[in-house]
Amino acid sequence: MKIPATKPYFSEDDIIFITEKFQDILHGRSFLSNGQYVAQFEKEFAAFIGTKFAVACNSGTSALELICRALDISGKEVILPSNTFIATANAILNAGGIPVFADCADNMCLDESDVIKKITNNTIAIMQVHIGGIVSESTLKLKKICEDRKLYLIEDAAQAHGSSLKKTKAGAFGVAAGFSFFSTKVMTTGEGGMVTTDDEVLVEKMKAMREFGKVKQDIYINYHKYIGYNWRMPEVAALLGLRQLAALEHFIKRRNEIARIYDQELKEVSSITMIKPESESIHNYFKYIIILKDHDRRMVHKALEERGIQPSGYVYELPLHKQPVFGWANDLQLPKTEYLSEHHFCLPIFYSMTDEEVAFVAQSLREVLKT
Ligand SMILES: Cc1ncc(COP(=O)(O)O)c(C=O)c1O
Repeated sequence: MKIPATKPYFSEDDIIFITEKFQDILHGRSFLSNGQYVAQFEKEFAAFIGTKFAVACNSGTSALELICRALDISGKEVILPSNTFIATANAILNAGGIPVFADCADNMCLDESDVIKKITNNTIAIMQVHIGGIVSESTLKLKKICEDRKLYLIEDAAQAHGSSLKKTKAGAFGVAAGFSFFSTKVMTTGEGGMVTTDDEVLVEKMKAMREFGKVKQDIYINYHKYIGYNWRMPEVAALLGLRQLAALEHFIKRRNEIARIYDQELKEVSSITMIKPESESIHNYFKYIIILKDHDRRMVHKALEERGIQPSGYVYELPLHKQPVFGWANDLQLPKTEYLSEHHFCLPIFYSMTDEEVAFVAQSLREVLKT
């Protein structure tokens, strides 16, 4: 049996809808980029998350950088987890900010007690990352810390479409959140991103910044109020996004069923623990994460590959403060982050995965861990 780490899913109806609308676009009946379908996707995404606005762009990275630029973090410190994808830090750096790495808690999301220690007079924001799709209780604590100290809470919700805590969806906790629709995500447009926010002033800036910083001035189009890029979303991506959004709750339900099979099949294996979602939360199970307490991760990875199973990507195998590109941070010690980065492992999980495939992965893992 060959099992990939992840696989996108589009139903036959989705494929018919997308190709019919795309044919219209190809026949010149509607614009190719940042047009009616992008506007519709923004409206429906904001309504789903529970924010007033959404701003579409071409990646999760540009979504985060749009937020950082619109909030004008230049010269200021932003506290973020070291256990995240490099795009979180790059967005801060590219907007002229200073990334400050903090430790995570047992669920791999920010540990608010370490964040508090890192706040200085130059801190402007805290960036929570909902790693693997988990919305941690620390998000609520960080929201309070930000309110008390007049800091911005930004969410990197790149992995957390449809996840929630106490009925608030990821993307609706802070001043703004960035989502990714990269090919491996729970919902995908191939490449793409979205910012969610309630702040209309930010929306005006971000809509300009995603298009070279342009604002419309009388008959002129090329009137530049801000520094910006070409971060527009193509219409075909929005078409994919509209259909994926409509199916998202369905995707999450199946991912939860798969997670319950893994829980059941692996509950007797004493050498692993699972990272569990918070109570009163919905986990989208972008990742099903286990901690290998006693085993060599490299051995487990290779042994599963030999059996035709592609492990899902790590989140993350080497924390940012240990990456060569951030040499200035390499001496920093973040013990929980270092332990979890080194010992975690992600099992394959995707909407169309069959119960038999899940059972095969679990059985193979049990066998590998016995050797
Ligand atoms: C936590 C996190 N932040 C940011 C990004 C960047 O998103 P993208 O790849 O769409 O630029 C990703 C996704 O890859 C991510 O997982």
